[in-house]
Amino acid sequence: MFATSTTDPWLIAAEALAPTPSPYIDDPALWVVERVREHPWSIQAEVMEAVRRERYVAVKSCHGVGKSWLASRLVCWWIDIHPVGSAFAVTTAPSGDQVKVILWREIGVAHERAGLGGKLNERDWKFGRRTVAIGRKPNDYSPTIFQGIHEQHLLIILDEACGIPQSLWDAARSLMTNADAHMLAIGNPDDPGSEFARCFRPDSGWLRLSSETSGPLRYLPQEVTRSRRLRTSSRGARSSEAARRS
Ligand SMILES: Nc1ncnc2c1ncn2[C@@H]1O[C@H](COP(=O)(O)OP(=O)(O)O)[C@@H](O)[C@H]1O
Ligand SMILES: [Mg+2]
Repeated sequence: MFATSTTDPWLIAAEALAPTPSPYIDDPALWVVERVREHPWSIQAEVMEAVRRERYVAVKSCHGVGKSWLASRLVCWWIDIHPVGSAFAVTTAPSGDQVKVILWREIGVAHERAGLGGKLNERDWKFGRRTVAIGRKPNDYSPTIFQGIHEQHLLIILDEACGIPQSLWDAARSLMTNADAHMLAIGNPDDPGSEFARCFRPDSGWLRLSSETSGPLRYLPQEVTRSRRLRTSSRGARSSEAARRS
């Protein structure tokens, strides 16, 4: 069963036996357009696609370019596209307010707009007793902070990553043992001695993006929708063409 709620017992039973793959599994930006009815800016769509594809993505950008917005939509997409119980999202930021007032408020907005299921609290999202996403600030840190997270699909978001202490980076990294684990570190690397700044070294192993080096900052909303739809339909056209030939 996906995060969207249904009360039909037959649908719930059928989904439990053979979950239908989400049509948005390969396209987080399209998920935002169609499910949340919002329009990611070009840099946001680019970062979403990078996170979908790569395990380690670091994004350098200044304030107000929509980092927390995009991180929150990624969390909602991640939980929505996977069957409940198979996916988990961990988010952190340097202070409690950045976690609660910024990131999780944005998660709340997207959760409500998309009509996602479960119950969202200030810093966690639950389906019944099962937690699917958490927000933690550095003061919450303990060696066991992330114990018990064994879901198959894992997304880790480090917002304002430059201010996140080393202990939390290490704890987050220790979760990355799953094959389907993705980590996004996003912020302004203004402290050259920080772990975040180290992500931008050529040999870091991270995919490195910067809002300064990407294309135009914003698509017009219709352009995102149209280009995404074209991509989706041309994929479909190619596969039906291949099916005809074989
Ligand atoms: N694609 C978008 N569509 C509409 N509003 C957006 C979008 N991206 C960001 N915003 C809004 O812009 C403001 C700044 O975004 P935010 O994610 O907080 O920036 P940052 O984290 O980079 O400082 C917020 O009010 C946010 O809701
Ligand atoms: Mg922010």
